[in-house]
Amino acid sequence: MRLGNRVAIITGGANGIGRETAFTFAREGAQLMIADYDTAAGQEICAQLREKGAEAAFHQVDVSSRESVQKMVEATVEHFQKIDILINNAGITHDGMLVTLTEEQWRRVIEVNLNGVFFCTQAVVPHMIKQGRGRIISASSVSGVYGNIGQTNYAATKAGVVGMTKSWAKELARHGLRVNAIAPGFVQTRMVETVPQTVLEQVQKQIPVGRLGKPSDIAHAYLFLASDEADYINGTVLHVDGGIIM
Ligand code: NAI
Repeated sequence: MRLGNRVAIITGGANGIGRETAFTFAREGAQLMIADYDTAAGQEICAQLREKGAEAAFHQVDVSSRESVQKMVEATVEHFQKIDILINNAGITHDGMLVTLTEEQWRRVIEVNLNGVFFCTQAVVPHMIKQGRGRIISASSVSGVYGNIGQTNYAATKAGVVGMTKSWAKELARHGLRVNAIAPGFVQTRMVETVPQTVLEQVQKQIPVGRLGKPSDIAHAYLFLASDEADYINGTVLHVDGGIIM
């Protein structure tokens, strides 16, 4: 069991990549706090995890609200007594070309994808420092590293995740924490459902491994970085994109 006796918070754990990550972590012995805005899906996945013998709880959270995040972290500590792993996975898109992007589109994506990662990390870190150990892994994106048409807001947040990851990796390593990010390419979740099929076919042609990503591709990357095997990896951005951009 690579995560035996470890408590993991997975934000955005009710759907897509987060959901797959919850099942992957549970198979490796982790105790899970599914922290998501989507209560119906979150409670359903929790029930499924428990049916499989995993220890899992759900807490509704809006990661863009510091108060909501604080309550979620307190609930996690109350339920599991500790936090070993934070997966900053919740994220949204509100795409638009630069000249027509509204302030609301800009602000909402910043609030969830950037402020959310900051609020969650700031709230869990004192608990991790106290126990002298912790793992924080956040979702960046190929868009954040290379940019993408129509994704000014999203790319800004995902580049911001890289900057925060590297700063925290330097700041927190001395306390036994490891901080890393993953940069997925195009992964088949509802997030890419809005991308026209013709565009996805074009994208697929550019991916050396010849297919779009599956949620399990990303879940396994999260698992590796959360496991003891990655103890000497700190401040890295692991690209999980089939080699779409090198
Ligand atoms: P998804 O849309 O399937 O799942 C996102 C989850 O986040 C949902 O359960 C949603 O309820 C939750 N969420 C959204 N806003 C929230 C908030 N304010 N508070 C709490 N929970 C909230 O998305 P997917 O594809 O699973 O994405 C997961 C992460 O991976 C995101 O950060 C995304 O930006 C990143 N990513 C995804 C890629 C893809 O192609 N699917 C590519 C690169 C990065």
